[in-house]
Amino acid sequence: MSTNETAVQVVEANGAAIPLLGLGTWDLRGRVCARAVEQALRLGYRHIDTAEIYENEREVGAGLRASGVKRDDVFVTTKIWPSHFAPHELERAARECVARLRLHSVDLLLLHWPNPRIPLAEALGALGKVKRAGLTRHIGVSNFTVALIEEALAATSEPLVCDQVECHPFLDQSKVIAACRRHGMAVVAYSPIAQGKVRHNEVLKRIGGAHGKTAAQVCLRFLVQQRIVVIPRTSKVERLSENAAIFDFVLSAAEMAEIARLARPDGRLIPAGFGQPEWD
Ligand SMILES: NC(=O)c1ccc[n+]([C@@H]2O[C@H](COP(=O)([O-])OP(=O)(O)OC[C@H]3O[C@@H](n4cnc5c(N)ncnc54)[C@H](OP(=O)(O)O)[C@@H]3O)[C@@H](O)[C@H]2O)c1
Repeated sequence: MSTNETAVQVVEANGAAIPLLGLGTWDLRGRVCARAVEQALRLGYRHIDTAEIYENEREVGAGLRASGVKRDDVFVTTKIWPSHFAPHELERAARECVARLRLHSVDLLLLHWPNPRIPLAEALGALGKVKRAGLTRHIGVSNFTVALIEEALAATSEPLVCDQVECHPFLDQSKVIAACRRHGMAVVAYSPIAQGKVRHNEVLKRIGGAHGKTAAQVCLRFLVQQRIVVIPRTSKVERLSENAAIFDFVLSAAEMAEIARLARPDGRLIPAGFGQPEWD
């Protein structure tokens, strides 16, 4: 199967159809970012992940337009930083995201991290309003624990389509994955190749050897085989292709179990409180 055919496999989640493979853009800036987005789309990626805090929404929009791919064929996600969760702030921030991207609306707008200083019902109320105003097709959350997912669902009648969380073989996220499944939400895995660290792992390399694949491809396959959306980031064209070539092989149950055993208590890369106000 070619990248073009496979990159558009989607996960259905509370009314959204989210492409299983997306391009992460954290830390991609300027022309490098615009080029990565353009090339990814030309290669068949149909999902791009950005955030207001990444300061690259303009370049993401420019890459999208340069690719020649139709706007409606691409799933664009952006995220609101927690210091903008007060309702009037959130609405302003969302309008600014869409304006920087030079789009009429995004496909998915997320609360980037929980903010304990602002009642969740208020932030979600504002997010729902932004959706009803047509600035986003879907809404969701990021870095929410199981308890926060439950609290969020009780606080809004708008469907939440995903929780975007750190997720890779070195971290056990089974509880949050189970909570998302219970509520029809997709899990979107960020840092899905553990920020490049998977390439040194002997188990992933050995399994990759058996399939003619790299450790990073095995890692991404491990996630998409569980219907977890992956958004690996790369600035390199050859790695865009590598990270997309994950739909033409299948890991056995024994291989999946062996990879799951790589999880470690200290496997988290991004500190749990990273997005809290004191980090601003
Ligand atoms: N919601 C949140 O709070 C949150 C937090 C973190 C990230 N994210 C999102 O998730 C995306 C992905 O996470 P991430 O950027 O932290 O990390 P990642 O995608 O797991 O890893 C990116 C790193 O791996 C390298 N890499 C890419 N493909 C590779 C391959 N095939 N083999 C070996 N190395 C490879 C990249 O370097 P090169 O550029 O040199 O290829 C880069 O250094 C972000 O870009 C962002 O969109 C969201």
